[in-house]
Amino acid sequence: MNENNKLHHQPDPYVETRVESLLSQMTLGEKVGQLVLENAFAPIDWADVIQRQKEAEERGEVFKIDLLPNPVAVEHARQGLISAINSADLQINNQLQRAAVEESRLHIPLLVGHDVIHGFRTVFPIPLAEASTWNPELLERAALCAASEAATVGINWIYAPMVDIARDPRWGRIAEGAGEDPFVGRAMAEAHTRGFQSTDLPAGRRIAACAKHYVGYGAAEAGRDYNTVDISERTLRDVYLPPFKAAFDTGARSTMSSFNEIGGVPGTSNPFLLRTILREEWGWQGVVVSDFNAIGELVQHGVAKDLREAARLSILAGVDIDMESGAYARHLAQLVENHSVPLEIVDEAVRRVLKLKFNLGLFDNPYVDKDLSGKYILNPEFRSLALDVARQSMVLLKNSQTVLPLQTGKSRIALIGPLADNHSDLLGTWAITGQAADVETVYDGLKQYLEDADIVYTQGCSISGKEQEDFSSAVSAAQNADMVVLVIGEGADMSGEAHSRVYLGLPGRQQELVNVLAQTGKPIIAVLMCGRPLVVPELAEKVDALLVAWHGGIRAGQAVADILFGAFNPSGKLTASWPRAEGQIPVYYAHKSTGRPAEGSGTKQYHEPFRSTYLDETNAPLFAFGEGLSYTQFDYSQLKVLTPVVPLDGVLKVSAVLKNTGNLPGVEVAQLYVRDLIGSVTRPVRELKGFQRVALQPGEERQVFFDVVVSDLGFHGQDNTYRVEPGEFQLWVAPDSTSGLEGRFEIR
Ligand code: BGC
Repeated sequence: MNENNKLHHQPDPYVETRVESLLSQMTLGEKVGQLVLENAFAPIDWADVIQRQKEAEERGEVFKIDLLPNPVAVEHARQGLISAINSADLQINNQLQRAAVEESRLHIPLLVGHDVIHGFRTVFPIPLAEASTWNPELLERAALCAASEAATVGINWIYAPMVDIARDPRWGRIAEGAGEDPFVGRAMAEAHTRGFQSTDLPAGRRIAACAKHYVGYGAAEAGRDYNTVDISERTLRDVYLPPFKAAFDTGARSTMSSFNEIGGVPGTSNPFLLRTILREEWGWQGVVVSDFNAIGELVQHGVAKDLREAARLSILAGVDIDMESGAYARHLAQLVENHSVPLEIVDEAVRRVLKLKFNLGLFDNPYVDKDLSGKYILNPEFRSLALDVARQSMVLLKNSQTVLPLQTGKSRIALIGPLADNHSDLLGTWAITGQAADVETVYDGLKQYLEDADIVYTQGCSISGKEQEDFSSAVSAAQNADMVVLVIGEGADMSGEAHSRVYLGLPGRQQELVNVLAQTGKPIIAVLMCGRPLVVPELAEKVDALLVAWHGGIRAGQAVADILFGAFNPSGKLTASWPRAEGQIPVYYAHKSTGRPAEGSGTKQYHEPFRSTYLDETNAPLFAFGEGLSYTQFDYSQLKVLTPVVPLDGVLKVSAVLKNTGNLPGVEVAQLYVRDLIGSVTRPVRELKGFQRVALQPGEERQVFFDVVVSDLGFHGQDNTYRVEPGEFQLWVAPDSTSGLEGRFEIR
C-alpha cells in the first residue's frame, strides 16, 4: 500500500469506538438503512422544468427549480432507514438532515451526494478540456473551488473525479474524463481528489470524493454508452485501473461501481474487481456506491432473475451503498434473515459508511446553518480561476501564415456561427447547477477588443438543424469584413452520459457553412467548441486557424477573445487523439507494434501491402495526443540520458534544453515518452512517463530534467502480476507523441 493510502486509512481509535458502539445498537433494518441512497425530491415534471429553464435563459435570468422534498425519504430519514440522498438544494438537504439527526433513534447524519464534475455554480471547462491544460496544480484549485461552492448547500459527497480512460470519441462520456492516457489520467485523478477533499474547505465542511466508474466503463464496445466491455485483465490493469489507484492513494474516500460488464461480469456484481483487487490487493477501505440503479440493472444484464437476487449479488460482490434501485431497502434484511447473505458482510459495509460519516465530521456538523453562498458562490477569485483554466485548456491546432494573434484596431471581423453568441452550450455536459446567465459568450469577449463598427455578428446556421439554411447574411458579413471568426461545433447535449455519436463531423449544416465561407477567400479563424475529439479533416483544411475551445464554462468567451488577440498565448495540448475518420477508431498513440507494423509514418503509412494499414486512409490521427501549438516556437536540443544504465531500484534521469525561438513569451508542455523494446508481453510503441510545463521568455533557454523511478516503467506480465523487466528502452523528450529527441537507456 502506498504511504498516502496508509495515512488515510490509519485507524482512528475514537472513530473505531464510536462506530462499534453505534453498530452494536443498530437493528438489522437500521443497518440496511445505512446502505440505502434514496431520491430526495418529490416527483418533478421535467418537461415543464426544461421549458421554464429555456424561457429563463432567453430572458438572461438565473433559473431555479422549485423542489419539494420526497415525503417518503423524509419519513425514512426519521426512521433511520436511509443513509444518503442526491441533492443540491439547501433547504431540502437541511430538512432531510434534521429528520435524520434529530428525529431518528440513533441520530446518524446523511451523506448528501451530487455530480459536481466540472464546477458547481462557477462552471469550469469540461474535464477533457481541463486535462488539456496539463496543469494538475491549477486543476486542484478548480476542484477546491467546486467543492467550496457545493459545500454551501450541504453537499458532502461529490461524484467525481471521473477517471475513466477513453479511447473512443464516439463515447459521449469522453468529455468527463482526462482522455486516453493512464499517466495523464493518474495526474488528473490525484489533482481532482486533492482539491475536492481539501482541508482548506469552509470551516466545518468536508467533502468525500468518489472516483468513478469502477471500472472499464470507457471501453464500451462501439463507443455506445452502457455497452458491453471485453478487455483483457492486462489491459485493465495497465490502462484502466491506474487512475483509480492514484485517486485512492491520494485518499479518495469512495468509488462508484460501473454500469458495464467486463467479460460477462457486470461491474456492480463483480467480486474480482470489488473485493480481490480493491480490498485484498490494494487494501483500500473506502465506500463503494453503485451507479444509479446499477443494482437493478443486473436484471437486464441477465445475471439476476429479480431485484432480490440483484441485491444478493451486489452486497456479496462488495457494493456498500445502493444508489436508488431500492434493491437493498426491499430485500437485504430478508436475505440476511434467511442466511443468503452473512450478517458480517452487511456489518462490514455499514462500518465503512459510518466511518466515512465520522471522518467527514458530519456527526458534529451536519447542517449548513450559515449562509456561506455570498462568500463562496461565483466569487471573483473563482471567476478568475475559471478564466485561467479556460485559457489554458484551449488547444491551437492550426495557424497558417500566423494569422493569429489578431491585432486590435486593425481588423473588421465577421463573427459567425451557432456558438458565437451562445450561453447555455458553453456550460458543457455536467452543469446541473450552472446558469446560462453566468456565461460570457465569444461575442461578449470580442467586444472588449473591438469597436462596435468593427464586428458584425450573424449566427449563420443552427448547431444541428438538418433543414436547408440560408447562408446569404453570413456570406455578405464575411465579404464586408477583413476576416471571419467562425464559432462552431457541438451543443452541450451532444456529449456526456447516454450521448454517444457515430458521425463525428460538424453536426447539422455547419460544414456547408464553412464551405461557403471559404469560397469568399477571407481568412477564417475557426473556434471549435465540443465535448469530444471530432472528425474534422475538411474543416482543418479549409480554415486558416483552428482553436479547440471545448465547452469552456462560464469564462469561455473571454478566454477565446484573450487568445485570439494574443493577450494569452495558447499552451493547451490534446490528451486524446483526433481521428481523421470514424473508421480508425479506436486510434490512440500508445498502440502496439503488431507483427506487421506500417513502415511509413504520419501520412505516409498508407496502403502498404500486407502491412497493418488501411486501403483508404492513413493510420495516423489528424491531430495526435500531446499536440498543440503556441504563438511562439520552441526548439528542443541537447538530450542527455544521465543514467544510460539504471538499476531496477533506481531512477531514470534525463535532461534536454528547451529554447523559445519565437518573439513572444510562452509555455511549452514538454513530454517524456519511453518504449520498452523487448518484453515478455508486447509493449506500446510509446508511453508517456513524464511532462512539464516550461515558461520561457523570447530567446530564453533552459535545461529541463525528468526523473522517473524505474518501478514506474513496468507492466503486467503473462501472469498478470506487475513487473519491471531489465532490458533496453528507447526514450523521447518531445513536444507531442509523434516526434522528439530520441535516446536510449538500459535497465539492468
Ligand atoms: C451516472 C453517474 C452519476 C450518477 C448520479 C449516473 O447515471 O452514470 O456518473 O454520478 O448517475 O447522478
